[in-house]
Amino acid sequence: MAKFWMGFVAGFLLAPLLVACYLVFGMAPAATSAPPMPLERLLAGTALNSRISRETSKRQPSDFSVTDLIDGATVYSKNCSACHGEDRQSASSIGKAMYPEAPQLLTPEGATGRPVEVIYWEVENGIRLTGMPSFQSLLSDQEKWDVSAMLSRASELPPDVQMAFDREPDSAASCADQPLKKAAKSRSPVRLTAQ
Ligand code: HEC
Repeated sequence: MAKFWMGFVAGFLLAPLLVACYLVFGMAPAATSAPPMPLERLLAGTALNSRISRETSKRQPSDFSVTDLIDGATVYSKNCSACHGEDRQSASSIGKAMYPEAPQLLTPEGATGRPVEVIYWEVENGIRLTGMPSFQSLLSDQEKWDVSAMLSRASELPPDVQMAFDREPDSAASCADQPLKKAAKSRSPVRLTAQ
C-alpha cells in the first residue's frame, strides 16, 4: 500500500515538474518551422472538432445556387487566397511560412468534401493559436456561407464558377502589390489605403 501511495504522489508531482522543465528550459518548439510538440496535433484537432459539432447548424451543398458559389469565389479571391492559395497548382508562400501551415484549399486535398457548416464555423470563429483569422465582423453571414459552400466542392465546381475564378484579377495577393506597381509606373507617391 505504501508503495502505491509513493507512486501516486511521485506521479502527481513528477509529471507537472517534467512538463515545467520542458517549457522553462526552452525545449518546447517556438518557431513556426519547428516540428509539433508531442500530442499537439491530436489535442488541438480533437478539441476543435468536438467544439464545431456542438455549435453548428447543418447545411447541404445543394442549398446553394451557382450565383452563390460565384459570390463565394469572389469572397475567396479577396480574403483567403493570400494564405490559402490562388489556384489548384501554386501554393501561397505566406501560407507555407506559417505554423501550422495554411492548407491550400483549392487543391484536391483542400476542403472538398468537408461539411459546409464546419467550414462556416472555422471562417466565423477563426482557429485559436493559428494564423486563421475570425471573419465574424469582416464578412456578411451570406458571404461566409457562400465561400464555405464553394470550398466544400472546390474540386468539382460548375464551369461558370471556375470561370469566375479565372476572370478574377483582384485577388488579395495581387491587390497588395497593385499600388506599388502603379506608383512605380507613374512615379506618384505610394497609396496603400483602400481606394
Ligand atoms: C492570414 C492567413 C489566413 C487567411 C487570410 C485565411 N486563413 Fe484560413 N487558415 C489559415 C491557417 C494558418 C490555417 C490552419 C489552421 C490549422 O491548422 O488548424 C487555416 C485554416 C483554415 C480552414 C481549415 C482547413 C483544414 O483543413 O482544417 C479553413 C476551412 C479556412 N482556413 C478557410 C479560410 C477562408 C474561407 C478564408 C477567407 C475568408 C481564410 N481561411 C483566410 C490562415 C488563413
